[in-house]
Amino acid sequence: MKAYSSARDEFEGEAEVFLDANENALGSAASGHFNRYPDPHHKALKERWSALKGVGQERIFFGNGSDEPIDLLIRLFCEPGKDYIITLPPTYGMYKVSASINAVENKLVPLTPDFELDMPALTSAWDEHAKLLFLCSPNNPSGNLLRRQDMHELIKSFPGIVVVDEAYIDFSPEASWIDELEKYPNLVVLQTLSKAWGMAGIRVGVAMGDPYVIAMLEKIKPPYNLSLANQQLALEAMANHEKQKNHVQTLLAEREKLIHALEGVEQVRKIVPSAANFLLVEFDRADELFHFMIERGVIVRNRTRELHCEGCLRVTVGTSAENQRFLTLVNDFYA
Ligand SMILES: Cc1ncc(COP(=O)(O)O)c(C=O)c1O
Repeated sequence: MKAYSSARDEFEGEAEVFLDANENALGSAASGHFNRYPDPHHKALKERWSALKGVGQERIFFGNGSDEPIDLLIRLFCEPGKDYIITLPPTYGMYKVSASINAVENKLVPLTPDFELDMPALTSAWDEHAKLLFLCSPNNPSGNLLRRQDMHELIKSFPGIVVVDEAYIDFSPEASWIDELEKYPNLVVLQTLSKAWGMAGIRVGVAMGDPYVIAMLEKIKPPYNLSLANQQLALEAMANHEKQKNHVQTLLAEREKLIHALEGVEQVRKIVPSAANFLLVEFDRADELFHFMIERGVIVRNRTRELHCEGCLRVTVGTSAENQRFLTLVNDFYA
């Protein structure tokens, strides 16, 4: 397949007059200069991300959120009706949704009840039509890291691409899998600006992997998948790495305070150890507690109907005041 060739792709060098892309030379209806198409190759972003992460630019792909590379990877590797992906419930919901949209089967190999990899079940789960294995670590909604040694074994033995989704890696005490990219050409690591970087509203995600896989993602993506505004704001965020690190430290301290307070609540049955910015907590009468909170303006995620999550609510770590408000409602509910 030949990739779309944009007006700017067909021209190299310096120019003063651009009459090649049917843009509006008079300017933008909004304030700011948005009348020109953005860089489809995200050069400035890749340069900056490469310096931040120590990963070569040829290994970096930028998407409209990490949801976009999830969808593109499925489209790239799976033939509808023939190939399948493997996901490990309970986990992030978009793998399954993207597979469905693309008419690709999603084989489920559940995590164990303590949210670990079920190695015997996994290693007998695939044949040559298994093209992608999604490992979410830290996992959403449980928050725990998957066991590293098991992940090494899976990456070595899986016949297709292993996608390690690291949306929450900045909150984790363990190193990122990007350090292993050179060792494993079948590894793709997803990260995002939506969590620790606090940029969920602009939709910027990153896939990192083997240069050939990255080149294929570049080939099939919509040409202007990141708007100029997105690219500018993502660059601004990356230039403020110190602020991101401070936010992470604050949220981690808040997470520990939240855990401590919840441990003192008799009706809390379990708090899953978290390496992320949220906690999965098992409560007595969780459904009722969930609705009690909504009626008082506090929204958490009800996960009670997810596998292994009976009685569980997923609570994002917020500001100190927000967490306090949540805790007050927990105590009011059981009083
Ligand atoms: C595990 C996981 N992966 C990916 C995403 C999607 O992130 P993005 O905002 O980059 O599309 C989320 C969002 O909640 C997530 O929890």
